[in-house]
Amino acid sequence: MKFFIDTADINEIRAANELKILDGVTTNPTLIAKTGRPFMEVVKEILEEIPDKPVSLEVASTDYEGMIKEGEMLAQLGKNVVIKIPVTIDGLKAVKYFEYKGIKTNVTLVFSPAQALLAMKAGASYISPFVGRLDDISHTGMELISQIRTIIDNYGFNSQIIVASIRNPMHVIESALIGADIATIPYKVISQLIKHPLTDIGLERFLKDWESVPDKPF
Ligand code: G3P
Repeated sequence: MKFFIDTADINEIRAANELKILDGVTTNPTLIAKTGRPFMEVVKEILEEIPDKPVSLEVASTDYEGMIKEGEMLAQLGKNVVIKIPVTIDGLKAVKYFEYKGIKTNVTLVFSPAQALLAMKAGASYISPFVGRLDDISHTGMELISQIRTIIDNYGFNSQIIVASIRNPMHVIESALIGADIATIPYKVISQLIKHPLTDIGLERFLKDWESVPDKPF
């Protein structure tokens, strides 16, 4: 299972990259806006830090021509840039266009298996179902991941599932149990994954008991 980080904050990306478990980055207009910095400045820094793993950059237009223009421009910024496109009619046409040209796409704002199926048929490299936002409206977000996994496996589609809108460690674990290809995780949740109170208590006891060991070699 691959771990992407879901942020445009370069400090978070650098910190996650130092852990040596990072397989890619996803951004969206909200995450870019949160940085309060110019788009190109942010993107260049991210691509310098992550030059050889997928970095999803989202188009801002909603019409086909606009998406093509923006996607072409973004794709030129690096060979690892993945064009993130919303799951709309124009979006699916744009996915088809980019995939034909050998440019990878990430279909975003996916909330139903029907939308995911259309994205697969359009040839999307990645599909991003938003589990947290479904949970927010009293749906079980993880059910969507199971459904998409089943559809991909039934027909052998090439699209990979990026579980997005992750809010807690359980979303990551459930994604792994279902067999999602990728989880894109906020930095806060990456930090939470390592934590367990019994590990802290156990470590404290080991350190204390170690003090009483005679003739220690280190
Ligand atoms: O990158 C898209 C997705 O992960 C957004 O998450 O927390 O805004 O629902 P959230």
